[in-house]
Amino acid sequence: MVLKILLLLSIVLQLIAVLTAIRLTKITRFNFSWILFTIALTAMSFTRCGEYLQIIGDKNMKLPADFFVWLGALTSVCFAVGVFFVKKIFNNIALSNHTKTLTEKRILSAILSTEEKERWRFSKELHDGLGPLLSSTKMSLSALKMDELSKYNHDIVSNTLYVLEEAIRSLKEVSNNLSPHTLTDFGLARATQNFINRSTKGSDVKINLSTNLKTERFNTEVEVILYRVICELLNNSLKHSQCSVISLKLFYEDSMIFINYKDNGKGFNPKAVMDAGMGLSNINSRISSLKGQCNMVSSPGNGMNTIITIDISNDDRDKI
Ligand SMILES: Nc1ncnc2c1ncn2[C@@H]1O[C@H](COP(=O)(O)OP(=O)(O)OP(=O)(O)O)[C@@H](O)[C@H]1O
Ligand SMILES: [Mg+2]
Repeated sequence: MVLKILLLLSIVLQLIAVLTAIRLTKITRFNFSWILFTIALTAMSFTRCGEYLQIIGDKNMKLPADFFVWLGALTSVCFAVGVFFVKKIFNNIALSNHTKTLTEKRILSAILSTEEKERWRFSKELHDGLGPLLSSTKMSLSALKMDELSKYNHDIVSNTLYVLEEAIRSLKEVSNNLSPHTLTDFGLARATQNFINRSTKGSDVKINLSTNLKTERFNTEVEVILYRVICELLNNSLKHSQCSVISLKLFYEDSMIFINYKDNGKGFNPKAVMDAGMGLSNINSRISSLKGQCNMVSSPGNGMNTIITIDISNDDRDKI
């Protein structure tokens, strides 16, 4: 009785396995291995059914010994060949994961480059469109003979000139922040130094920049991304760390760009603040879009150190 129940149970289980294998055959677009597994499992179910008929002991239903041998052989062959083909499934999975990562990187890179293009276009519109208009307004006003004006009008014109100067200055600043002209014209080292000079105006923080970059120019995408990353690191230190010294090393050697950035501020737990703002996650995604490595180490009370490495051997590097 127990044997009968066990056999019935195993027949049911094997039929379920057959159905699952058929489903997987469809999902894996009729991959050969699942077809073979389906045949092997079906053959096994037939074997169990044969065994069941033997056990219930119907003399008329006596099956020939060959029946079991053939089914056994078919099962073994299908399983053996099927296992061999399973490798194909794993290869497909690995390939589709690789394609997915590649697509994600391409999308990210397209987003970043579109963003930069729009910034550049907007900055140019401001600089070349609105800038000259404000400058010529200022020149026209400056052409007024101030001595001949009443004190009242003199004050109004002086004030307007002052406001115009402010407007021109802040327009240049906005345009430069959107797309730094120094970066386009002179490259990463000069643009970084310019940004440092502007950021430390009126602040006690000492920023030491050391670099071996002179007139070297890199692919525009590399320069823009590294510039934005350095700006974000500096902004974060100045905004959050209460540091007194920042050290920034920027080196280029054997087709590799190395950035070693340190501040001696209050430090933080990088894992705990990942969602606090966009800055840190942008740094990571920008560096990974260049297939580079970014390692940020910080803990409360111990400042912050970020090391970035980028291999640009596949990029076009033009010297001026
Ligand atoms: N150098 C640093 N020293 C101390 N804390 C830091 C430093 N850099 C980042 N942090 C902490 O990590 C958090 C996340 O930084 P992140 O740059 O992602 O965002 P944010 O600067 O707050 O905002 P956003 O960059 O989007 O304007 C910060 O709010 C700050 O608490
Ligand atoms: Mg930030």
